[in-house]
Amino acid sequence: MSQYRIAVIVGSLRQDSFNRQLANAIVKLAPPEFSFKQVQIGDLPLYNQDDDANQAESVKRLKNEIHGADGLLFVTPEYNRSIPGVLKNALDHASRPYGENAWAGKPAGVLGASPGAIGTAMAQQHLRSILTFLDIPTLGQPEAFIHVKDGLFDEAGNIGADSKEFLQNWMDQYVAWVKQHVA
Ligand SMILES: Cc1cc2nc3c(=O)[nH]c(=O)nc-3n(C[C@H](O)[C@H](O)[C@H](O)COP(=O)(O)O)c2cc1C
Repeated sequence: MSQYRIAVIVGSLRQDSFNRQLANAIVKLAPPEFSFKQVQIGDLPLYNQDDDANQAESVKRLKNEIHGADGLLFVTPEYNRSIPGVLKNALDHASRPYGENAWAGKPAGVLGASPGAIGTAMAQQHLRSILTFLDIPTLGQPEAFIHVKDGLFDEAGNIGADSKEFLQNWMDQYVAWVKQHVA
């Protein structure tokens, strides 16, 4: 029986998303008492404050999943040196109505992968700024700016040999971070 339920938020809707592949692969490095579930954000309407008193079913579902999670794992691409709009839309939705921020207090980790040289560094900094405002305690180190290149994943979709040690350490630190906040 899992003791720690983690909601995974992937910032890409792309079918063959590297970030979704990374999310799928890195959870295999977690201990058995951790379980991970990717939350769906692609069917959320565009956030409109007029709807706060009458949130869509997809928004209620997202908020329920966040409320039910012990921790959060964000895995996101960088779009134009920031986070994708779909991710910001999800963050805004579950933060409202005012006073009913579903994210508050949930320990989080941030990862991102890009074929670009800086491996989502700027997007992650923007994301961290938002997470701070939303009262989400976020693992500071190690940072994980993943440069997508051949061999990042093996044929079975696991983390490839060259990145395994680094990402195993990242996961170990993340696990300790979640346990520290949930205990
Ligand atoms: C609208 C858009 C903006 C992008 N901007 C950046 C960027 O600022 N930095 C970067 O490294 N890659 C950028 N890219 C390239 C993405 O890193 C690349 O498309 C990546 O595969 C997206 O992640 P995904 O595979 O998880 O969907 C951009 C891609 C798109 C579609």
